[in-house]
Amino acid sequence: MKKLLLASLRKPYHKTRKMSSNPTETLKKDAVLDHLLRPASLEEYIGQRRIKQNLEILLRAAKERSHPPEHLLFYGPPGLGKTTLANLVARELGVAIKTTSGPAIEKVGDLASIVTNLSPGDVLFIDEIHRLSKTVEEMLYPAMESGKLDIILGKGPSARIIQLELAPFTLVAATTRVALLSAPLRSRFSGGVFRLEFYTLEETKQIIKRSAQILGVSLPEDACEEIAIRSRFTPRTANYLLKRCRDFAQVAKEPLGKDTVKKALSLLEIDERGLSALDRQILHSIIEKYHGGPVGISTIAASLSEERSTIEEVNEPYLIQLGFLERTSRGRVATDAAYKHLGLKVPEDRQERLL
Ligand SMILES: Nc1ncnc2c1ncn2[C@@H]1O[C@H](COP(=O)(O)OP(=O)(O)OP(=O)(O)O)[C@@H](O)[C@H]1O
Ligand SMILES: [Mg+2]
Repeated sequence: MKKLLLASLRKPYHKTRKMSSNPTETLKKDAVLDHLLRPASLEEYIGQRRIKQNLEILLRAAKERSHPPEHLLFYGPPGLGKTTLANLVARELGVAIKTTSGPAIEKVGDLASIVTNLSPGDVLFIDEIHRLSKTVEEMLYPAMESGKLDIILGKGPSARIIQLELAPFTLVAATTRVALLSAPLRSRFSGGVFRLEFYTLEETKQIIKRSAQILGVSLPEDACEEIAIRSRFTPRTANYLLKRCRDFAQVAKEPLGKDTVKKALSLLEIDERGLSALDRQILHSIIEKYHGGPVGISTIAASLSEERSTIEEVNEPYLIQLGFLERTSRGRVATDAAYKHLGLKVPEDRQERLL
């Protein structure tokens, strides 16, 4: 039974649901459900109060002046709502959004074709902007600053530059790795550079309640709180866990209460503070192989055969937020709280070793 449940929980969401007679119809329904979970207006967007207040003023002022707002950058860990905000900016302005990403703009020609095809007032959303190449980034500067695009025609002594006038647009960019952005690029987001924070427990519960209502799932208060606590205070994870718990309840033929949530999430190896198996492996590795640290991030990544970027982008922010990990100039250090969480004894000579 346990094996069967685990297998069904790990399958993509659409495969765990009872198929209707028409599989294409079922897939369509699931895509629609996921789409429905996205807040459709800034008002529906829960939390991130400071960012919302700033955006409301910026967007209102821009609308009153009938001019596109200045460029915006959203950064923070995955799943906190950056893409959602970018879409809401366009929606609030009542303009079209063209979406691309850093790695998709390989050549300067790609950028030229994107920006010259924008209509006046459009939002251009560049996701993963930290992955833009240097040459593309430099070409973006005049486009952002003065709405002009310098194109070099030909090569060598006969090369000449032509300057294209672009329709006024707003660049909205998102990144999980703001430290990788060059200072000149960062400074050109004159509309604002906004850091998304982890959500509070109350906000996370609100997000889960809203999603449960949309999915037609009845969820008691204590079950909702249990999912929230284990969701890394991240909306994407909260929605994912809610759907997995719903699947578990359906397959186990149990009502979706707190106990069912606990069973479903422990089967997914998510512990009572929301740590995944990889989060715990990272802490175990630092503590057991490197005496609690300090140890370099590349060493940790190599010891777990994981990508350094995954650890930096996905795991570290939450472990730091919980106070289980510290980033020091000499490397990563597991805190006393991490030892406690894993049920390990803090070595007596630990403080001396850290000095
Ligand atoms: N403030 C919010 N209120 C309610 N739901 C939200 C909120 N923010 C995000 N979500 C939900 O979480 C999901 C993930 O959000 P989104 O895709 O915007 O994250 P992201 O920051 O762009 O992640 P990534 O860095 O991985 O691209 C969305 O589909 C949406 O359903
Ligand atoms: Mg995104």
